[in-house]
Amino acid sequence: MLLEMNNICKEYPQGREVVKILKNVDLAIDQGDYLAIMGPSGSGKTTLMNIIGCLDVATSGTYRLDGEDISRASENRLADVRNSTLGFVFQSFYLLPKMTARENVALPLLYAGVKKRARLRRAAEALRMVGLGDRIDFMPNQLSGGQQQRVAIARAMINEPKLLLADEPTGALDSASGHQVMDLFDELNDKGTTIVLITHEPAVGQRARRLRRILDGRLLAEGEGGVGDAW
Ligand SMILES: Nc1ncnc2c1ncn2[C@@H]1O[C@H](COP(=O)(O)OP(=O)(O)O)[C@@H](O)[C@H]1O
Ligand SMILES: [Mg+2]
Repeated sequence: MLLEMNNICKEYPQGREVVKILKNVDLAIDQGDYLAIMGPSGSGKTTLMNIIGCLDVATSGTYRLDGEDISRASENRLADVRNSTLGFVFQSFYLLPKMTARENVALPLLYAGVKKRARLRRAAEALRMVGLGDRIDFMPNQLSGGQQQRVAIARAMINEPKLLLADEPTGALDSASGHQVMDLFDELNDKGTTIVLITHEPAVGQRARRLRRILDGRLLAEGEGGVGDAW
């Protein structure tokens, strides 16, 4: 088991009340899995993703990732886990505008202490893997949205993360570019990368191996809340 969440709740104080954003979420993910979490806007997808991604912590419940209980881990420990175990892809690609594609992809290796020559070599390799071997020295603004997202995926994969997290990765793309990104996820998963993808688009969610829906902060069981249910 790569990831196991039990009874995860997330609450925010609001005046004298608390609002419950995630309600008793249970989630288990094996190595090599590819799970889509699908739900409407405001259902708690990003909140859940931020907890999975160690960018935020739950109010209660337990979270084990790669054999370690990180439910109450310190900020520093969470940052280490993010760097060593996780790769992130977001809806808006977050590339640094004054760096080339290759420099953007190489950046996580700088933080990992890899020497410059090796960084640039590995970044070029990663860009070839996402089909951008002929664009390695382009600036982000010289690339299409789909190409920028593929640069972001190369950057997320450069440290060989155990888990790739993607929050609405096709949300800012036209459908052709979105398809290319989803093809790339298939390829990465075929090669063994574990993926959790969040989306509100049924056509995207259906491409994962498994699909779970989230509705009003509750993560439904697999097969629950499918077509025909009112949500
Ligand atoms: N920091 C916060 N404080 C209070 N409420 C929040 C906070 N972050 C998110 N929410 C609320 O939690 C709910 C779920 O948000 P979010 O996880 O971003 O949904 P989704 O990604 O599914 O659109 C929303 O109603 C949102 O307003
Ligand atoms: Mg969201």
